[in-house]
Amino acid sequence: MTAKERIDWLRAELHRHNHNYYVLNAPEISDKEFDDLMRELQDLEQEHPEYRDENSPTMRVGSDLTKEFRQVAHKYPMLSLGNTYSEAEVTDFYERVQKALNEDFEICCELKYDGTSISLTYEDGKLAQAVTRGDGEKGDDVTDNVKTIRSIPLVLHGNYPPSFEIRGEILMPWKSFEALNREREAREEPLFANPRNAASGTLKSQNSAVVASRKLDAYLYYLLGEELPGDGHYENLQMAAGWGFKISEHMKKAHSLQEIFDYINYWDTERKNLPVATDGIVLKVNSLRQQRNLGYTAKSPRWAIAYKFQAERALTRLNKVTYQVGRTGAITPVANLDPVQLSGTVVRRASLHNADIIEGLDLHIGDMVYVEKGGEIIPKITGVDTEARGILLGEKVKFITRCPECGTPLVRFEGEAAHYCPNETACPPQIKGKIEHFISRRAMNIDGLGPETVDLFYRLGLIKNAADLYQLKTEDIKGLERMGQKSAENIIKGIKESRHVPYERVLFALGIRFVGETVAKKLAKSFNSIEDLEQASVETLVGVDEIGEKIAQSIVSYFANPLNRELVGRLKEAGIQFCRSEENLSEYTDKLAGLSIVISGVFAHHSRDEYKELIEKNGGKNVGSISSKTSFILAGENMGPAKLEKAKKLGIRILTEDDFLAMLS
Ligand code: IVH
Repeated sequence: MTAKERIDWLRAELHRHNHNYYVLNAPEISDKEFDDLMRELQDLEQEHPEYRDENSPTMRVGSDLTKEFRQVAHKYPMLSLGNTYSEAEVTDFYERVQKALNEDFEICCELKYDGTSISLTYEDGKLAQAVTRGDGEKGDDVTDNVKTIRSIPLVLHGNYPPSFEIRGEILMPWKSFEALNREREAREEPLFANPRNAASGTLKSQNSAVVASRKLDAYLYYLLGEELPGDGHYENLQMAAGWGFKISEHMKKAHSLQEIFDYINYWDTERKNLPVATDGIVLKVNSLRQQRNLGYTAKSPRWAIAYKFQAERALTRLNKVTYQVGRTGAITPVANLDPVQLSGTVVRRASLHNADIIEGLDLHIGDMVYVEKGGEIIPKITGVDTEARGILLGEKVKFITRCPECGTPLVRFEGEAAHYCPNETACPPQIKGKIEHFISRRAMNIDGLGPETVDLFYRLGLIKNAADLYQLKTEDIKGLERMGQKSAENIIKGIKESRHVPYERVLFALGIRFVGETVAKKLAKSFNSIEDLEQASVETLVGVDEIGEKIAQSIVSYFANPLNRELVGRLKEAGIQFCRSEENLSEYTDKLAGLSIVISGVFAHHSRDEYKELIEKNGGKNVGSISSKTSFILAGENMGPAKLEKAKKLGIRILTEDDFLAMLS
């Protein structure tokens, strides 16, 4: 067999096994066997770049090349559906259709999947393009990201039309959503409110390797094209299942209003057992001929309608409103409620978001309020049952004017909904929050230290700010709650090692309001040292690309505070990097001379390309696949299991990005 033949065979086999696993839920081979085939294909493709194929199964791993999305016009506009919320409106729809058609018709009942919609174009059985809904006329070309979704076929089989479009919903299953949020929580990154946001956020990721790691799924529900096999929407989709698409198993044809209501009632409760989020039912006239007869209004088809499920809500009493102070000083009002059962959990508290929301609800203590969870994790108050108010109206809820933790008068920044406590340097939750941010993974990444330990050290008076960390000794902390000699030593070691963290991450770690990772990078590029930054005026700062008035003001006022200057001074004494190290890094050295280095996984601090550049500038060689000649692997998150296994087998060292950066600094 020639290499080309073997490549073709491997591709066909891997496509088939993908379909078995991700669409049919019926794998024929073990994960290990699958990985072995994939690895063999990867190796062969690397040896034979001339046989490159955009739709090879190896394309599913994604790449971390950053790119903007190209906007593409939809061949057929992507319309939305009219929404109904009651059985009466469903009856109206049914009768409208009956009257307009004046002949027998079938209604296809489907679940309304709650994700983000996608339009896929197939040419000659190959995925040619995947475009988001956008404004309905044009959307973003997210083909590279979509290729990483295993339930979307890259290559079709059977008797498919030469050219067609198929639309559907990209979803993040509940399980993946919950796991992702758990990971994000551990990494102290903001959580996704619901699987829909997680799916659409992921799909728009600039890095398809991230998309590949997020385990998205897709259901297809609408075929378009000039050469579809038959006249029935339902029948055509069943055919599409045969070409390799994942079609809902829960579609059903109804022949009467009663059958439609039975479907709605069944799924209103049964949907809770589905692995993905749904928010209603879609009803479609099944015959394409009849669909054409019914036509469209300006916004939506006359042949289809969505029935939205009532979000589950509960009525309970508002007992009081308390206020939480976050790391940045942002104040969150929290409704304290009589415990009430909602979607399987007992709800005692709900977020009230901000002063405007409270005002809009005209909340009074003792009010009976509606609580909803929808797809959100944090329940919210959506309304007040004003009829339930007696003659004695409780006290009106007035947003506090002083910080509940330190008593400082609150401020509100222009254009922002939140109130803030401005006492950044002395308000306890802000102090603790700042230290937690300082040690977090994307900032100083101090091993062994987490929010609980920070809280403990703070309560015991061991630390009052980040600089105090560098004064800690093993003896100070060993023997504290759950802290043996070993963990104490690890923490002190972690703190010591954070002295190598580069300047730009140190700037981020300081927690200056509005200075996120990107701004910190920009600042580090424009101001060689913290002294330069300290002296910069608002005018100088706004001269820097992407730094506006608000950020500039915040930086100037940070350094105007003597307590902050003192903190920076002490950190400097502790040996933290306060000047640009990037130059040293990017200088040509021979630190990696003679080394063959494999890069694998997804990284937090630099892109894969930047690492490649770093390796080369330091005299090393970046190679694609692991062999006995590999010196070490620079591994980010989600390193492929096949690579990991091979590395272990060959006894090759695996370095994290922090190890690697430390090695170069
Ligand atoms: S059909 C012209 N079927 O709901 C009709 N849509 O506003 C095209 N959706 O944008 C849509 N499940 O993102 C259809 N079974 C289903 C659906 C569905 C979810 C979404 C879709 C659409 C929105 C309707």
